[in-house]
Amino acid sequence: MLKIQELYKSYTFGNTIVPVLKGINLEVKAGDFLAITGTSGSGKSTLMNIMGLLDKPTRGHYWLENKEIVHYNDDELAAIRNQKIGFVFQSFYLLQRFSAVENVGYPLIYRHISQKEIRHRSMEMLEKMGMADRAKHHPNELSGGQQQRVAIARALIGKPSIILADEPTGALDAHVSKQIIDLLLELNQQEGITIIIITHDANVAKRCKRHVIMEEGILTTDAINLH
Ligand SMILES: Nc1ncnc2c1ncn2[C@@H]1O[C@H](COP(=O)(O)OP(=O)(O)OP(=O)(O)O)[C@@H](O)[C@H]1O
Ligand SMILES: [Mg+2]
Repeated sequence: MLKIQELYKSYTFGNTIVPVLKGINLEVKAGDFLAITGTSGSGKSTLMNIMGLLDKPTRGHYWLENKEIVHYNDDELAAIRNQKIGFVFQSFYLLQRFSAVENVGYPLIYRHISQKEIRHRSMEMLEKMGMADRAKHHPNELSGGQQQRVAIARALIGKPSIILADEPTGALDAHVSKQIIDLLLELNQQEGITIIIITHDANVAKRCKRHVIMEEGILTTDAINLH
């Protein structure tokens, strides 16, 4: 699915260079369910942004489905991101002026699909998330857990092969957090979607198939969880 080799990322502030990723090696197979944990500032989101083609490494190699991404220009990267990757974030990022079903269908607006078909597919996806009865609600009329279900439906609507989730349960209580992880596990098991999630929650990390730990820009542990 993806392979990262000797990847570095630094940020420049005036004359100082701040190294953030310091030689990452990681291989993720199709169908994997990977948790990334590590202290705040260790570089988890930076790595995920690079994996999601939202940012570029300073040096090193990154292959997504066997193609090295350095060979693509920005437009091509955007197209690949759109087709292959679904994003889920801690703060949901739903559009407030749109209803749940409109939020879910939003990523399809840029594809050549009719309004009717978009609505149909969005409703189907909401049903799958157990949110069909909230389709017309706006985000501010939904609980945090419900908003995250809508956000996951939106991430899935384009049929991505991989879901990248940056602290998807960070804003949710333990009970709702468990439900969201149940949902992601089900998607992973039943549809084979590869999932990578960043979390600060040890319980969440434990439930994933595999757990890697990041410390100061390097991956220090990579273990399979036995369930
Ligand atoms: N756009 C940026 N410009 C400059 N520095 C950045 C930028 N993004 C991240 N950094 C720096 O890179 C380091 C790693 O940040 P990152 O967001 O990847 O950490 P994280 O592991 O996700 O932390 P957290 O658990 O708090 O979300 C931090 O020191 C941060 O200040
Ligand atoms: Mg982060």
